[in-house]
Amino acid sequence: MKIDLLQMVESGGCSAKISPKQLEEILKYLPLPKDPNILVDIDTHDDAGVYRVNADLALVLTTDFFPPVCSDPYEFGQIAAANSISDVYAMGGDPVLALNIMMFPAAKLPIEAYAEILKGGFDKASEAGVRIIGGHTIDDYPPKYGLAVIGYIHPEKIITNAGARQGDSLILTKPIGTGIIMAGHRLGLANEADITEAKRLMKLLNKSGAEVMKKYNVKGATDVTGFGLAGHGLKMAMASRVSLKINMKKVPLIGGSYKLADDGCIPGASFRNLDYADEHLLAVEELDYNLRMIAFDAQTSGGLLMSVSHDKAEAILNDLHKAGLTSSVIIGEVIEFQGKYIHLEN
Ligand code: CO
Ligand code: CO
Ligand code: CO
Repeated sequence: MKIDLLQMVESGGCSAKISPKQLEEILKYLPLPKDPNILVDIDTHDDAGVYRVNADLALVLTTDFFPPVCSDPYEFGQIAAANSISDVYAMGGDPVLALNIMMFPAAKLPIEAYAEILKGGFDKASEAGVRIIGGHTIDDYPPKYGLAVIGYIHPEKIITNAGARQGDSLILTKPIGTGIIMAGHRLGLANEADITEAKRLMKLLNKSGAEVMKKYNVKGATDVTGFGLAGHGLKMAMASRVSLKINMKKVPLIGGSYKLADDGCIPGASFRNLDYADEHLLAVEELDYNLRMIAFDAQTSGGLLMSVSHDKAEAILNDLHKAGLTSSVIIGEVIEFQGKYIHLEN
């Protein structure tokens, strides 16, 4: 029997996140523990929490899990693991250990599918040098998979949302469009080459990008996932008290993403993301409608958005290209906060 996980979900991957508005409501009720060793908490909406163990070592903790974003169980496992580990890379950490988190409808899927998802996760974690040393499974429909990950980091070398500085250049390491293409795939509108490329990018670890950030002592970055490029940019701008100016014409797109958006293939998550960010958004009047929606396309296992000092930008780009991240490009700059956190232009 050929298993097609996509038939079980309406929105998979990071598109299945609750809306940023609802999340903000919920987080208001969550007390924040006070402890001088907590170096990063949810206050700055960073990718992971960081806890200092001693003067030379801090732990990076993060978790992510979601419903299937593709049909094949093994590929889903790989993508989910790459996405979970990404938050450690985004903060400049070295991922070390992980636990599986698995929701699996035992009565609706053969056990081999379950095994394939876990195998995909294990193989991707191994590629990242991460040992999976346990996990937890419950019976649930539709299936969901991800990891809780622990990484090491030096307490003084943490890369955060708050590290963007006026004058910095913004570099994006993977093209945008996984939300649109996988939605197009579900509707039978996306072509095979684009689907394959989207899956390749979602499986691609942000490891090499993180290595380049460390080499150049980059201070501000995030990975681009469920809230989209502009949504995660907004978190960064708010935490850094700056504005991000993004030129949407410079943002690389996966294959026919633009055409799919133009044909109306814009997933619900994009509208939720835009709705949340709208009051913080300044878009030039003639900004193309599709590009505006693409800026908020929910990415699964997306690339790194880095804020790098202007004079290092070319050297960093060079290294990223050499590391195989050939789509890496400067998409904008960090400017003084001027009432709106995100400026989108053509
Ligand atoms: Co993240
Ligand atoms: Co995350
Ligand atoms: Co347990």
